[in-house]
Amino acid sequence: MPSPDHNPAFPAAQPGAAPESVRPAPVRVIAVASGKGGVGKTNVSVNLALSLQNAGQRTLLLDTDLGLANVDVMLGLSPRFTLADVLAGRCELRDTLLEGPGGMWIVPAASGKRHMTELLPQQHVGLVHAFSQLDVPIDTMVVDNAAGIADGVLTFCQAAQDVIVVVCDEPASVTDAYALIKVLSRDRGVSRVQILANQVQHAAEGRQLFDKLQRVTSKFLDVTLNYLGAIPRDEWLRRAVQRQEAVVDAFPSAPASAAFRDIARRAGQWQSPQGPRGHVEFFMERLIAQPSRSAAA
Ligand SMILES: Nc1ncnc2c1ncn2[C@@H]1O[C@H](COP(=O)(O)OP(=O)(O)OP(=O)(O)O)[C@@H](O)[C@H]1O
Ligand SMILES: [Mg+2]
Repeated sequence: MPSPDHNPAFPAAQPGAAPESVRPAPVRVIAVASGKGGVGKTNVSVNLALSLQNAGQRTLLLDTDLGLANVDVMLGLSPRFTLADVLAGRCELRDTLLEGPGGMWIVPAASGKRHMTELLPQQHVGLVHAFSQLDVPIDTMVVDNAAGIADGVLTFCQAAQDVIVVVCDEPASVTDAYALIKVLSRDRGVSRVQILANQVQHAAEGRQLFDKLQRVTSKFLDVTLNYLGAIPRDEWLRRAVQRQEAVVDAFPSAPASAAFRDIARRAGQWQSPQGPRGHVEFFMERLIAQPSRSAAA
């Protein structure tokens, strides 16, 4: 039983407030995915990570998407190095770290042609080593994924403790979300998925979307869907994107910002990750321990 004064939502106290030796909290890894592209994964990742950081959790945002709308672009940051440079021996992992808004850490996407999970085995080892050398204290890592159901996306989702599938009210988004959940549950052993509705016009729309997905998954798949909530379609979010800022920072009183804070609060209440001591390298080890499969039929 957790102690009554332990609030799992915000396990990280202010720096220096709690003795380090008491409870080295494991790193919670949350993967954000969607199936269909352009539904709002990067915005969800950035604003969720920042809301967690603002709530006192030391957060690292890992960008694994090689697409154009990268985290660093969204936040107006200019990476000097990426993971590709680490692997090429041009820099240390620490050198890739960007300090984002609120003091959260960001590891920008490798700018090479390959996904991290498609690297050679010795490069995987190099990455794990690099992450184990990273002595930055972190409570939560948020992983922004590329669209689709490529092997790399599935592997990141499988290695994370929790997967958020972002969905919006378009037939293709729902169909692709279902396809993603299907491969995650059938081929990757993922048993629980959080559904986040984005760009909803009214509160009921999110729940309806969830119900739609729930109906098919409960019929055909062995997976539990949880309704995480909904983010409204919000013009302030668009403006924040144009300003290259996170909406929770640029317009904290916007409806989308309130919704992101709410989502972060709920995500903070998920069951804590198991394990004696969490470090980011555990995530990387889990990541490379996954058998590499070719795309499932
Ligand atoms: N809640 C929202 N309200 C209004 N506009 C939104 C909202 N969420 C996303 N958008 C719009 O959709 C665009 C795409 O969002 P985002 O880049 O986060 O999607 P993505 O799923 O990461 O895309 P990709 O699949 O290309 O990585 C944003 O730039 C923004 O203009
Ligand atoms: Mg994106």
